[in-house]
Amino acid sequence: MTQPLTLRRLATSGPAGEGAIFTNAACGFEVPVAWFEPRYWVAQGALLGSARGRGATQFFEHEGRRYALRHYRRGGLIAKLSADRYLWLGENATRPLRELRLTMLMQNAGLPVPVAVAARYQRAGAGYTGDLITELLPDTLTLAQRLDAGELGLATWAAIGRCIRRFHDQGYCHPDLNAHNVLLRGESEVFLIDFDRARRRRPGLWADGNLTRLLRSLEKLDDARAVRRVDMTQWQCLLAAYQTGAGQTDIWKTGGG
Ligand SMILES: Nc1ncnc2c1ncn2[C@@H]1O[C@H](COP(=O)(O)OP(=O)(O)O)[C@@H](O)[C@H]1O
Ligand SMILES: [Mg+2]
Repeated sequence: MTQPLTLRRLATSGPAGEGAIFTNAACGFEVPVAWFEPRYWVAQGALLGSARGRGATQFFEHEGRRYALRHYRRGGLIAKLSADRYLWLGENATRPLRELRLTMLMQNAGLPVPVAVAARYQRAGAGYTGDLITELLPDTLTLAQRLDAGELGLATWAAIGRCIRRFHDQGYCHPDLNAHNVLLRGESEVFLIDFDRARRRRPGLWADGNLTRLLRSLEKLDDARAVRRVDMTQWQCLLAAYQTGAGQTDIWKTGGG
């Protein structure tokens, strides 16, 4: 399926002299190259801050709208070899373009994801570096941040389970489902973010793998906390809602504000 993307080739950027920006045409404007440079937003006085963690996601504001700019960075041991460079396997295999396309597909399917705005890659030797811009989801905090602030009610755990099930029902596997990639607004609105390496798959054990990864992330956070914020009752509540599925009306969403 072709997706409405506008393409701008960057003939002179980067040492290898090649790159490209893809913009989600539905956004109605073409993203200029400066948007991918945090120092541009600093100079404009429009940088709002950055995410804790890997520190490669920055937030900026433009004409009253807020955006997240993520520079793709490697994790784990390989990061010591190359912090942000990936092997070039062709344009369509670049992480930012894949994530842009996949997020647009999910949005079109009605799934709760941020609006994906634009992707850039820049060739660098035998590899490339990449960036992605999404619209900031207003008034959200990550599941991890919410748990730091206090316990969550069972209805919220159920809403998270139902949300994940909606993605899985459409075959979307989130290989990095963790407490920093689940965003909450209020008690009942749930979003998933960060679809680097996510893909569509036939039904399979990967769905359990996503859930196990989330549980491990919650356990890891709890181990580091003075007070436990997650117990098995809450996790069972999430699982029960996941198993019941999203085929039912989302009462938390329609009931909430
Ligand atoms: N569209 C968005 N809306 C709100 N917050 C976001 C958005 N994108 C990223 N964030 C915040 O930035 C953090 C890091 O972004 P993420 O895309 O998960 O990159 P990574 O995990 O690779 O560092 C998230 O955990 C979240 O707190
Ligand atoms: Mg993340």
